[in-house]
Formats: sequence, structure tokens, C-alpha cells
Amino acid sequence: MIKKLFPCLKGYGKYALLAPITIIFEVLLEIRIPYYMSKIIDVGIANKDINYIIKTGAMMALMAVLSLICGALSARFAAKGAMGFGKNLRRSVFNKIQEFSFANCDKFSTASLITRLTTDVTMTQHTFMMLIRTFVRSPIMLVTATIMAANLNSKLSFVFLVSIPILGTALAVIMVMAFPRFRKMLACYDKMNGSIQENLIGVRVVKSFVREDYENEKFNQRAETLRQTQLSAERMIICNMPIMQLVVYSCIIAILWFGGNMVIAGTMDNGALISFITYVSQILMSLMMISMFFVSFVMTRASVTRIAEVLNETPDIPDVDSENKVTEGSVTFNNVSFSYDKNPDNLHLEDINLTINPGETVGIIGGTGSSKTSLVQLIPRLYDVLEGQVLVGGRDVREYSLAELRSAVGMVLQKNVLFSGTIVDNLKWGNPNATTEEIISACQAAQAHDFIMSFPDGYETVLGQGGVNVSGGQKQRLCIARALIKKPKIIILDDSTSAVDTATDASIRKALHEKLSGTTTIIIAQRITSVCDADKIVVMDNGRINAVGTHEELLESNEIYREVYESQQKGVA
Ligand SMILES: Nc1ncnc2c1ncn2[C@@H]1O[C@H](COP(=O)(O)OP(=O)(O)O)[C@@H](O)[C@H]1O
Ligand SMILES: [Mg+2]
Repeated sequence: MIKKLFPCLKGYGKYALLAPITIIFEVLLEIRIPYYMSKIIDVGIANKDINYIIKTGAMMALMAVLSLICGALSARFAAKGAMGFGKNLRRSVFNKIQEFSFANCDKFSTASLITRLTTDVTMTQHTFMMLIRTFVRSPIMLVTATIMAANLNSKLSFVFLVSIPILGTALAVIMVMAFPRFRKMLACYDKMNGSIQENLIGVRVVKSFVREDYENEKFNQRAETLRQTQLSAERMIICNMPIMQLVVYSCIIAILWFGGNMVIAGTMDNGALISFITYVSQILMSLMMISMFFVSFVMTRASVTRIAEVLNETPDIPDVDSENKVTEGSVTFNNVSFSYDKNPDNLHLEDINLTINPGETVGIIGGTGSSKTSLVQLIPRLYDVLEGQVLVGGRDVREYSLAELRSAVGMVLQKNVLFSGTIVDNLKWGNPNATTEEIISACQAAQAHDFIMSFPDGYETVLGQGGVNVSGGQKQRLCIARALIKKPKIIILDDSTSAVDTATDASIRKALHEKLSGTTTIIIAQRITSVCDADKIVVMDNGRINAVGTHEELLESNEIYREVYESQQKGVA
């Protein structure tokens, strides 16, 4: 884990070094103060030497001021180091997520990724700050104060040496018991965030089904579970403080007892006993701080594990460093089988053999869940095949770099999104260097130009998050235009005109046919009219290709196709 996190210090390593160095100086200066105090009492006051008292007092004050300055500097460096570390960590997790395939994202769930990027990183950052300050200060304080105390009176120091193993054992038990509870707590955070996210994304559906009460109840339950797991984790941590304090005060009482006897017997000076107690408090205080550090270390270990899981995840669509270019838009499926869970007994696509020639228009028809989307997602490698091969331009898709392959394959997803920004920003996603003419021409093909121009701000219209301020059909047309601007060799429309009226749908197909004559076009549709003039039509059924042919051939020979056609004709009649 540490190896994974270490690079995140980049640029802030010097602060992470300066913080412990300045804190060491702070301790070395501070540790002198009780020593001067004992001198004032045992030498200055005992001899009534006012000069000695002033001189030693001034030294004491100087030490205090210097240690204060070092302490303040250290706090500043530690904050700078930890915040920088946090930023780098967050960035590397985010960058890693960008490499994820759809399958990787499915595995973690969006909500969990959000918790990992926020709560978990913040926890880690906080503990890192403690690591470079408290965790350096306390052990050094512990050692130096022990040396100073043993110097003052070695016999008396046995008292607190006894207490250290007791503290250590108590702490170890607490840590071992708390760790699984914290992991559970973070998993509950994921669940709660999941329900928030789902609710916010689906707020319109929630309102239209008047499901607010149900949603409130669901959220309450998750918040309540979180509260319970938090309590159960905290219950362990809470034990830490009373145990520590019990040991600390027992120690002080024992020292006062033994030390007091020594002072009465004349084997120890008054001032020495006072300083000794100060050192003992410093020692025990350090022990408490160390134990607190370990507690927060346990909490953070759960977070760091979760961050490391993301950083260690291998994107299951590995990119290849390849100069291969997609030269033409042919697509071939050779004995392809595919499963979302990589399980040969649960295939989502089976025995797929299909050849699509460059420039052809291919329609895909089939009931919902017949794996139409699954089939086309293999072309731009959104998922990888389980067996067999998908070829684009005569070459296995795994032999192209992802950037090259995906710029050659434009895909308009069934569930597509626009991002906040202007329309033109969104359109330029496919090609940042697109000229105004190219943009307008793509929008005309997608039948988007006219409605864009009807907005007061035209192409500069600002879209809300997820494109809330355009209608479903307008959104689909913008998504088609965005894919066209990439000038891909293959364009895939996955049910991309479902929210568009039949006349506009026909105009889009006509325009695509005219403007993209050399482009391979794959159209998934529910309506037979959307695919009937395609060069060939693929009928999907339950993960298999049922038939391939032209409209007339299929009407003649394919039962499924004929049924769909007739049911839609009836609708028209
Ligand atoms: N991300 C996914 N993870 C697991 N199973 C999936 C996923 N997406 C789709 N499926 C399953 O694959 C099958 C085919 O889905 P899909 O290709 O989307 O069908 P279609 O596009 O024809 O409606 C369905 O049974 C669906 O449950
Ligand atoms: Mg689909």
C-alpha cells in the first residue's frame, strides 16, 4: 500500500520532510524546560540566589519561545505536505478511474467510487498529517523524556516502565477489534451514497411516481444502519481514552508515593520530584498520542485498503501501444461468444458470425434483452469478447490502441449523456478542432441544426448537468451529431432515435445515407421502418443471430421478423 501511495508525495516531499525535522527541534527545546525548573527550585530558591533564578528563568523562557516557533512551523509544513499529498492521491485515483472499462466501473459501483474519492481520501490525508507530526513528536518525546527522567532518578523510573506493556496490550486489542468494524462502516457509507446518487439522478422519476416517502424511508434506513455501524466502531475507540487515563493517573499516584518517601528520607530533592512528574506527564501524554495515532491509523487502514483496491485494479480492457491504423470500416465477428461476468455457462452472446462490408448500412432488430447492445459494444471494445475475435478493418480490435479504435468507431449509446457546458462544447467532444462548417453540417445530418437555431443563444446555449434543458429527442439528435463530428469510419446508433418522431427519423437516415456514403452504419432499432432499407438486417434472439438478410428476404423466410413487422403494421393500420 505504501508503495502505491508514496508517489503521491511528489512536489510536496520537502514539506513532508521539514515537518518532522522542525518537530524534532521543538521536542529537544521543550524537554529542557522541566530541567531548568528543577534547577530554579533546588539551586536558586534553596540558596536564595535571585541572579541564578533570573538567568535560568530567562533561559527557560527562550527555550519556550523557540520551541513554540518550531512547533508552529512544523504545523504549517505538515498541513502543506498533507494537503498536497491528498490532492495528488485524489488525482491519481481519478486518473485511474478514467482508465477503467465499463466492467471495472460495474464492479465498484459509482457510489463506492465517489466515497473512495472523497471520504477515504480525506481520512488518509488526515492520518498522513498525524504521521509526519504526532507520530514523530510522540516517540521522540517519549525517549528523551525517559532519558531525562532516568537521569533525575533511575529507581523511580521503573514505575512508568511497568505501565508501558499494559498500555501496549490494551491498544493492540482495541486495534484488532476495531478494524473490521471500520471496514463495515465504510461499506455502509457506500450504500448511503448510492441511495443519494440514485435518488438525485432519478429525481424526475421519483417525483412522477410520487415515491418521495418511499425514498425517504429507504434513505432513513441506510442512514440508521450507518449510525449503528459507526457506533459499534466508535465504541471500541472510546475504550482507549479511559484506559489510558487510568494508567496515567495510577502512575502519577505511584510516583508521588515513592518519590514523596524519597524526599522525606532525603534521597531526592523537592525540585527533582516536581520535574520528574512533569517528565512523566510528558511521557504518558506521548503514549496517549501514540495510541490515538494508532486508532486513527486503524480507521485509515480501512480507507487506504479501499483506495489501494482502486489503484491496483487492472483495467480489464488493456490498452496496447500500437501504431496500427483503422484503414477501412469493415467489421467481422468470428465465432464470438461474450459474457458480462466472464462465465462460459452464462453467455450473453453465443456463436456470433457476421461480416459487414465497408460502407454498408446494417440494421439490427430483436426484442429487449436479446443482446443487441452487447453485440455492438464489442466493436469499439467497450467490453472484450470471451472467445473468438472481432475484426475492424480486417484486424483484431485488440491490436489497435484504444484511442485509434474509438476514434474510428463512433458509437451513440442507448443511455447517452450530455455534459454541462454549451452545445458547441459538447459537440466538440468528438473533435476539438472541428470547424464551424463541419459542426453545422453534422448537426444538419442529425436534424439538430434547426432546433438549435431556434434557441435564443443557438450553438452557445448552455446545457445543464446531463443536458436537462433539452428534450429526449433533441438530446438524441445532439448525441448523433457529436458522434458524426468525429468523422468515424463506422457509426453505431444504438436505438438512438427512439425518442424522435418517425418523419425526423427518416430524415436522419436519409441524410446519413447521403453525407456518409463511405461510412459503415450500424443501426439498432425497435421500428422495422428504421431498418427496412438497410443493406442487410440482423435479427437477434436471446444472444444469438437468428437470421441475416434484406427486408424482403426476412419477410419471406424469418418468422420473428415477420411477426414484428406485422404487429407494427397493425399499429399503423
Ligand atoms: N452491464 C451489464 N452487466 C450484466 N449483465 C448485463 C449488462 N448489460 C446487459 N446485461 C444483460 O445482457 C443481456 C442483453 O442485454 P442488452 O445487450 O442490453 O440487450 P438489448 O440491447 O438487446 O436490449 C440482458 O439479459 C441483460 O440483463
Ligand atoms: Mg440495448
